[in-house]
Amino acid sequence: MNYQFSNNVPASDEDPVGNILKVAGDPKVISFAGGLPAPELFPVEALKQATNDVFDESGRQALQYSIAAGDPKLREQIAQRMNRSGIKCDIDNIIITTGSQQSIDLTAKIFVNPGDTVIVEQPTYLCALDVFRSYGAHIVGVPMDDDGMQMDALEQAVQANPNTKFIYTIPSFQNPTGRTMPADRRQKMIEIAEKYNVMILEDDPYGAIRFAGDDVAPVKTFEHDERVIYMSTFSKILAPGLRIGWIVAEKTLVKKFILMKQTVDVHSDNLTQHIIAKYMAENDIDAHIAKIKAVYRKREGIMMAAIEKYFPKDAHYSHPEGGLFIWVEVPGVDTQTLFNTCIEHDVAFVPGEPFYADQVIPGTFRLNYSNMQEDQIVTGIERLGNAIKETIAQSVEV
Ligand SMILES: Cc1ncc(COP(=O)(O)O)c(C=O)c1O
Repeated sequence: MNYQFSNNVPASDEDPVGNILKVAGDPKVISFAGGLPAPELFPVEALKQATNDVFDESGRQALQYSIAAGDPKLREQIAQRMNRSGIKCDIDNIIITTGSQQSIDLTAKIFVNPGDTVIVEQPTYLCALDVFRSYGAHIVGVPMDDDGMQMDALEQAVQANPNTKFIYTIPSFQNPTGRTMPADRRQKMIEIAEKYNVMILEDDPYGAIRFAGDDVAPVKTFEHDERVIYMSTFSKILAPGLRIGWIVAEKTLVKKFILMKQTVDVHSDNLTQHIIAKYMAENDIDAHIAKIKAVYRKREGIMMAAIEKYFPKDAHYSHPEGGLFIWVEVPGVDTQTLFNTCIEHDVAFVPGEPFYADQVIPGTFRLNYSNMQEDQIVTGIERLGNAIKETIAQSVEV
């Protein structure tokens, strides 16, 4: 059959990142490639108890169809958390989604016509790029420094693209760089968005996992006219397999999200929503998040110390104060060649290229520290350091 696909479908079946994760999935490989939380921290017993209690107390309701906006009890708990973070909202500002990935997709579905511009950090979360591409967006990358997206470059990008629909930002412990935008930049981003009348999509899956430094308020707390769509998820603070996230937006906008979500999946898994609401009623989720932070702080520290010991001195790397990732720049190294050498050394990472919308900065790659044990981190970074030195030596010989 000669299938006549829509324009939303990529022409190529190539999945370079999928291939990397497949190779990195070999049990003998120490993998810093995926973005996986530490599974030993999943609160299995507490979730089991919550599940039993849901079945005992409201099984029939939890197994029934429900409303697209999501379980009111869960939305109420999320609204309380959001208000504590400085985002003023009530349950009518919130819609439950099947993870932030769906939140990004629904936002693009609602706002992006083919050819519309979406402005992103350069580099950014590659699966968001895939979503924006699938809607035919014209994606414009804005360079970053150690404090995130550069505001003068952002203003130029917005000026140069009057058809910009929104700025997509991951302001805290960004994927892939681990960088965080300070408050003055967040304020400036709002000023630019207001001046040129564009929206902001604030994707915040990692903000709650701060293990060093001081909290920075979400971009949404700086707005004056509800132009920020904020999204977060239980994936990194509870477990990603639950597939539950949320959007906070202006109430009339939430109505549009509800209509579009109904066309996609009617509503997110009702049973899982009940389980999370019950888990949060029976447990202190902040105490659980504190455990995650303690483990990630330790792993990040160990990885950073190993990087300083084993990487070449001209390597540049981010110093995350939370989240899951460190971003490395090693000038002059071809990261695909490095990746192949690393696989011979049984260690893996994700090369930087797929995270860039347009101009790729060569020699960049992402390391994840949340998913490996401490001794594996040290061994893996030593192997990676050796592979970098080997790759540099080989390129000099050629
Ligand atoms: C920046 C960013 N946004 C969204 C997601 C998707 O999260 P979810 O599991 O909630 O769909 C991820 C997952 O790693 C991410 O890093």
